[in-house]
Amino acid sequence: MQQTAKIIDGKLLAQNLRAEIASGVAALKASKGVVPGLAVILVGDDPASVSYVTAKEKACAEAGIASREIRLPATARESEILSAIDALNCDRTIHGILVQLPLPCSVSAKAVIDAIAPEKDVDGFTPVNAGKMLIGDDCFLPCTPHGIIKLIEFSGMDLRGKHAVVIGRSNIVGKPLAVLLSRKEVNATVTLCHTGTPDMSLFTRQADVVIVAAGRPGTLSGSMIKPGAVVIDVGVNRLPDPSRPKGFRLVGDADFESCAAVAGAITPVPGGVGPLTITMLLWNTLEAAKRHA
Ligand code: GUN
Repeated sequence: MQQTAKIIDGKLLAQNLRAEIASGVAALKASKGVVPGLAVILVGDDPASVSYVTAKEKACAEAGIASREIRLPATARESEILSAIDALNCDRTIHGILVQLPLPCSVSAKAVIDAIAPEKDVDGFTPVNAGKMLIGDDCFLPCTPHGIIKLIEFSGMDLRGKHAVVIGRSNIVGKPLAVLLSRKEVNATVTLCHTGTPDMSLFTRQADVVIVAAGRPGTLSGSMIKPGAVVIDVGVNRLPDPSRPKGFRLVGDADFESCAAVAGAITPVPGGVGPLTITMLLWNTLEAAKRHA
């Protein structure tokens, strides 16, 4: 199959936005003497989570944002995590707090997220920020959905009046993305498909843009999309591959080869959505620091 789709370079867009953020960080430091601070709480040692947290900390350092890692064992009690969050909520040098998900099953992710002060919730996951986003109030937008909107605009597509199909209804990506796409300033028509949708291809074949965030490789294939459609692949799945130094390779939720032969543009995995998620986290952390400077 021949790849005809344009590759949407998430790394390039992230690089451009991160240069802007680094300037904003330097300006805040020069004018108010404030260095934005991000605390990252990591519970346990899930390899994918460790790798995300490392990437977030590296990006902070490059932008001039101070990051502090709080590492707790997988056996940590919920009360220990809540105490760590309480301390960070009161710490004036910390403007953003991020708890890397997923958390161990023994801990209530809801209770932990609820404990983060909404003004430091740079992931946009607390009920206060999720509610504000829903009604269009000023708030921290969740990083992956916000980054996806930026990526689609960067691909050259004007979303106004277009049909966007979102696959997956997670609180982190699918649900908030459907809300953002349907906002008046974006103005797309949105269909949200999920595991209860009997035949997704009925919807995806009509879509101008398909965003797949299902957490399962092969969820979207070329036969399911309209020629020229834009495909945004949010999936990051590790497939065993002994020929690779790390013993695995990363694939998205879309079958890249078949989709790239039909789509007009497509994001790669890695190098598509991932760099934007981290970039929007830096953006929110700078915003949080500005508001409290
Ligand atoms: N796990 C997967 N994606 C995310 C994210 O955007 N934020 C946090 N905190 N955890 C995640």
